[in-house]
Amino acid sequence: MRDVSATEEVRTQSLPESIRHRFPIFEQRVYINSCSQGALSDAVRQAYEQYLNDWDEKGAPWEYWVERQETARASFAGLVNAAPDEVAVTTSLSAGVASLASGLRFARRSKVVLTDWEFPTIGQIWHAQEARGARIVHVKEAEDGTIPVEHFAAAIDEDTLLVSITHVCYRNGAMIDVREIVDLAHERGAYVLLDAFQSVGSLPVDVKELGVDFLGAGVLKYLLGSAGLGFFYAKRDLVEKVWPTATGWFADQDIFAMDHTDYSPAHTAARFQSGTPPVPAIYAGIAGIELMKEIGIAETRAHVNELNAHLIDGLDELNAQVVTPDSHGALICVKSKDAVALVAALGREGIVTSERDSNLRISAHAYNSVEDVDAVLASLQRHRKLLA
Ligand SMILES: Cc1ncc(COP(=O)(O)O)c(C=O)c1O
Repeated sequence: MRDVSATEEVRTQSLPESIRHRFPIFEQRVYINSCSQGALSDAVRQAYEQYLNDWDEKGAPWEYWVERQETARASFAGLVNAAPDEVAVTTSLSAGVASLASGLRFARRSKVVLTDWEFPTIGQIWHAQEARGARIVHVKEAEDGTIPVEHFAAAIDEDTLLVSITHVCYRNGAMIDVREIVDLAHERGAYVLLDAFQSVGSLPVDVKELGVDFLGAGVLKYLLGSAGLGFFYAKRDLVEKVWPTATGWFADQDIFAMDHTDYSPAHTAARFQSGTPPVPAIYAGIAGIELMKEIGIAETRAHVNELNAHLIDGLDELNAQVVTPDSHGALICVKSKDAVALVAALGREGIVTSERDSNLRISAHAYNSVEDVDAVLASLQRHRKLLA
């Protein structure tokens, strides 16, 4: 099996040529569905094997496993240009956001502004806060499929505590101009939470450049990890302003103090954690993140942009209705008469995609090639009647 250094050596090849051998699924299928789940690499498989070996050989190496958690924290922090003490290691994006929500008071300011592009979990967590006095306001999308900044300007006011936005929408691929909304929100004294699940790993995400106050993500899509691991970033000067009431012993100042007589949350973003960390998913997550850093995230973005330009040209030739606006992430969505049937038809031809909201979702990553895109286009031509 070739390793990462072999990957480096063959960089004169195209990006997919140099890394594809590390993802066995391509021996069987055209996998172009990273918006749903990243492909399994040799590195992530080895990480899971390592977890089992460590468990088998060492029994209960909890100190080491806590160290692995710290490695994961530092790895994610480096990825998004945060400091490790600004990052919580969580079991999902939802867990981090729910912890934040539990620590906010909706007294001085009571409004949470979110968009119609949010993943259900975000809407559900904020609407759950209505029972605690929050007022939830949705910013609507315009006719052209974008959300103009004026829509935010009309919603964010002196009563707004938090603006909750998603970097790349999971059901149409639209990418929001984060900085523009951050500037507006901050001008009006509101915080900004960014759901970066659909962007992290597929394009550079820098919390300092974006200026966001909080960010949630998971590793199972473009970061090539598995289910069970998420991260939550909180800007250092805001960490101690939030007092999570949904908590657990791994959020404590000293997890080994084993003190059940008080609540002393960590002075760091670890206060947004809860119980035992997801150790197996942490092994896999570290391997996935490090592999993506090795492959290069800016290089991946440039490569996927080229593939998507080719894809969109081909879709136009098929007269397909691309619902993804010009500003988009890795995900491209196409309107379908029956998206479930279309995904199944592609699947029968060995092409793995997914669907949401009557749209076929095609999401290329570093390992996808022009040939993959051509295979999708050829299959869509054969199933033209299922396109809207
Ligand atoms: C934009 C976005 N947010 C959140 C999630 C899921 O978050 P969680 O880790 O809480 O399941 C997904 C997963 O599909 C997503 O696409």
